Amino acid sequence: MSDTAHDLAPNPLTAWRGKALAGEAPIPGDKSISHRALILGALAHGETRIEGLLEGEDILATARVMAQLGAKVERLGYGSWRVVGAGAGALLEPDGTLDFGNSGTGARLLMGVVAGHGIKATFDGDASLRKRPMGRVLKPLATMGAWVEGGAEKLPLTLHGALEPIPVTHRLAVPSAQVKSAMLLAGLTSRGVTTVIEPEATRDHTERMLAHFGARLDIETDREGARHISLKGGQKLKGAPVAVPADPSSAAFPLVAAVLVPGSRIEIPAMMTNPTRTGLVTTLIEMGAKITLRNERDAGGEPVADVLVEAGALTGVDVPADRAPSMIDEYPVLAVAASFASGVTRMRGLSELRVKESDRLAAVAAGLAANGVRFAIEGDDLIVEGMGARVPGGGTVETHMDHRIAMSFLVMGLAAEKPVTVDDGRMIMTSFPAFRGVMEHLGADIRDGAA
Ligand code: S3P
Repeated sequence: MSDTAHDLAPNPLTAWRGKALAGEAPIPGDKSISHRALILGALAHGETRIEGLLEGEDILATARVMAQLGAKVERLGYGSWRVVGAGAGALLEPDGTLDFGNSGTGARLLMGVVAGHGIKATFDGDASLRKRPMGRVLKPLATMGAWVEGGAEKLPLTLHGALEPIPVTHRLAVPSAQVKSAMLLAGLTSRGVTTVIEPEATRDHTERMLAHFGARLDIETDREGARHISLKGGQKLKGAPVAVPADPSSAAFPLVAAVLVPGSRIEIPAMMTNPTRTGLVTTLIEMGAKITLRNERDAGGEPVADVLVEAGALTGVDVPADRAPSMIDEYPVLAVAASFASGVTRMRGLSELRVKESDRLAAVAAGLAANGVRFAIEGDDLIVEGMGARVPGGGTVETHMDHRIAMSFLVMGLAAEKPVTVDDGRMIMTSFPAFRGVMEHLGADIRDGAA
């Protein structure tokens, strides 16, 4: 099992209500794009220069794994990396276990990569990752010829790839960009066409980056609105420069904090605004938040904008289930925002939250309860009874090794009547190591230890 910082002693943190937040919030590179830049760089011929790579633990794990598989991966300076690959099909069987730490994305995308190579590799991760379901990706990869020793569906497991993956057409059973991406990555070395059908659109960074590296994909939307993504195997990827835009899933924390803390006004420069990722912004605007996108532009194949956020009152809304894929990682912080709204917010169709870094539905519910917020869970829906500006706070929240639970409830503490403690802030290192620094720079009061 992985031996990263989170296996050592816990580090409780407490957020206190304080002054208005103000200034610019520099947000690190997008986690999804950072993983893909390292992976596709290793599968491409020649050099890939990456600027703005997220240097969180999840991404550093992927960087180490790509080097174990034979790619040359070099850090040139802060956020600046160079990857030299030998082409899809040319990765080598690794010595030792591939350790993904806390990262489901790293593990699942690499299962696709290994499935497309005639090599075997052992996958492992931390206690949280060992609990997460891998069958959703291993089963479709098995139809392409990959197999797992003993049929395991949880880490640790040993996966044998296929020398020549069988081209398949696969309809996603769950709306998961990780499963889609794994299939496409395995399909790169197939002799035929791999097609993934997604009834609900999920984040499309793999498709965009494959195109950026010179691959041709055919993407069609059928009459039911499902996307059919087809990739012919054997195409040569060419290394290309990647500028990683700011991660909207990390920006979500200062963004919601600025909405909730009275008098706040912050700007988030160059936030990625890919529509498969902006469900939170759409929802907050529906709730009445003052969020303005300025200077919308393209940055290396992804749309970005400078985002101005001002504090203001929120009203509860009904969030439709089909918006879930575009804000799947943002529900914990949306639940915090909903606690401060007037009226009820119903978030529909949250079944996927149960299989994230923690059971996020249960962790959010427990966090709300600990801080005096009334809620109900009906089937897969979370219903939060907003309390206006008067959220009691004062609770201690169990984070269950989940970075987004930690950051979400620290945001709650910045606006609640009493401070909010999270039992452990170390996992924040996986996705947003500078979280506390960025929040303090805006004026937030976050302290070590319990209240
Ligand atoms: C990710 C996809 C999402 C998301 C995760 C990152 C990706 O997971 O929750 O944080 O980079 O492809 P699913 O594909 O399982 O929904």
